[in-house]
Amino acid sequence: MAHAGNPQRGLEISQVCQSCHGRNGDEALQPEYPILAGQHEDYLVYALQSYRDGRRQNAIMNGFAQNLSDQDIEDLAAWYSSQQGLYDLEMD
Ligand code: HEC
Repeated sequence: MAHAGNPQRGLEISQVCQSCHGRNGDEALQPEYPILAGQHEDYLVYALQSYRDGRRQNAIMNGFAQNLSDQDIEDLAAWYSSQQGLYDLEMD
């Protein structure tokens, strides 16, 4: 599925996320904070929408997702999915 996310804007609006997920989403400052870098874009969009509308319950993330617009979610997903993941062993 094609998304219209702008990764540069995603970086700019992800300041508030960095204290837990790291600048590139490749840090987990606590073991329970998931790595976002290299995650599939569709999955990140789905996860953030789910936190926003309460389908996925987490006290921390429900709060942070509350203020995100659809465009914010697309842009954040574009940023993290374009970063190199920890296990990014491309086979092709
Ligand atoms: C105070 C720490 C903290 C901050 C700040 C924070 N997160 Fe999270 N994030 C978490 C935790 C903890 C989880 C795991 C929650 C769960 O178990 O569902 C999580 C989960 C996620 C997930 C789901 C990942 C997965 O693998 O399912 C996404 C996507 C995400 N965060 C994006 C963001 C974005 C975007 C921001 C900024 C708008 C942000 N987070 C800010 C702590 C944080």
